[in-house]
Amino acid sequence: MNAISHRNIQNGTSPFEDQFGRQKRKLRISVTDRCNFKCVYCMPEHPQWMRKQDLLSFEELYQFCDFMVRRGIEHIRITGGEPLMRQGVVHFISTLQQLKKIGLKKVSMTTNAHYLSQYAAALKQAGLDDLNISLDSLDAEQFLKLTQKQLQAVLDGIQQAQEVGLPIKINAVLIKGMNEDQILPLAHWSIQNHCVVRFIEFMPLDGDAQWSKAHVVTEQEILNTLKQDFEVTTQQGKSSEPARQYLINGHPIGIISTISNSFCGTCDRLRLTAKGEFYNCLFAPQGMDLKTQIQGLNTQQSDARIRLHHTLLEYIWHKKQGFDVIQQEESTFKISAKNIESRKISMYMIGG
Ligand code: GTP
Ligand code: 5AD
Ligand code: SF4
Repeated sequence: MNAISHRNIQNGTSPFEDQFGRQKRKLRISVTDRCNFKCVYCMPEHPQWMRKQDLLSFEELYQFCDFMVRRGIEHIRITGGEPLMRQGVVHFISTLQQLKKIGLKKVSMTTNAHYLSQYAAALKQAGLDDLNISLDSLDAEQFLKLTQKQLQAVLDGIQQAQEVGLPIKINAVLIKGMNEDQILPLAHWSIQNHCVVRFIEFMPLDGDAQWSKAHVVTEQEILNTLKQDFEVTTQQGKSSEPARQYLINGHPIGIISTISNSFCGTCDRLRLTAKGEFYNCLFAPQGMDLKTQIQGLNTQQSDARIRLHHTLLEYIWHKKQGFDVIQQEESTFKISAKNIESRKISMYMIGG
């Protein structure tokens, strides 16, 4: 079916769908590209921040979320940069709760947790459903090297989140030669601290484009290491979660293995950057600038809604099959374009 005939059967309330039949249920909104950390796998040495006046306001973001929930989005994840660096984010989360009356099921956040001890209670109060927290090392010196910040603030933030009753998952990006020695400590720590850790294969989205396959700790290598201390079993069941689920001595863990085992086949995600660029895939070489169209939603004119709806139908429909295909096209492009970099966006701008 092509985009045009597809458009004819899709009405205003059915979920967006791409050409491979993947329905879109999750929207990730990056509220700022700024971050107080400098994770080696994410931030460039010299980031060029978006200008504050270029960002969509929270009112505009709310209108967009309302629009998307009416079109099938069930889960909104707030990301950054570091989302807690944008003033007003807690209030924004509280306003999103109204959308639960029209189909939104969950509002989540991904954070580095540096400011979390200060914000955990307010986030819980605002109705946040859960948190994913980056924690790549339990060794204070190594943590400092990886992020340029102190470990203790993050551990305090995690403790505070658990005390106020916010469910958490831990994200640990592994880089060969840097922190793969943390697999077993983090696994033991997650059992002691009653939470799930997800080990993540390093993806080629770091700000300074230093990534190489040689830096990736693969899913198989992670499993081999875990087997040194644990009985590892696979958890059955298909989900749209990026992580493949395992049990270590009966305790759940996940592995997000985009490089060795991508989950693109079930991808149900869409993304918006803080200045209104929309991405149908984390690896899409280019987004679509929707800022003006999103701002148009404020006017209550039905034209603006219809136009945006059609723009999105078309763009989402053309989502590529997945990471492998995009990588292949990118490398062909780079060879033909004599190594000119085609991708301008990296992880800190798109929020993972
Ligand atoms: P839930 O599964 O809904 O809890 O969230 P999540 O795991 O998608 O969110 P989180 O922000 O914690 O991301 C964890 C890791 O998964 C990060 O490294 C993300 O970049 C990666 N990730 C999230 N979404 C995608 C995606 O669509 N494609 C790929 N390849 N990686 C993703
Ligand atoms: N590869 C894999 N994961 C990454 N993240 C940031 N940069 C990368 C990368 N290059 C993860 C962080 C954060 C999440 C939003 O994205 O762990 O938790
Ligand atoms: Fe900041 Fe998250 Fe990027 Fe680390 S991974 S630099 S915490 S945005």
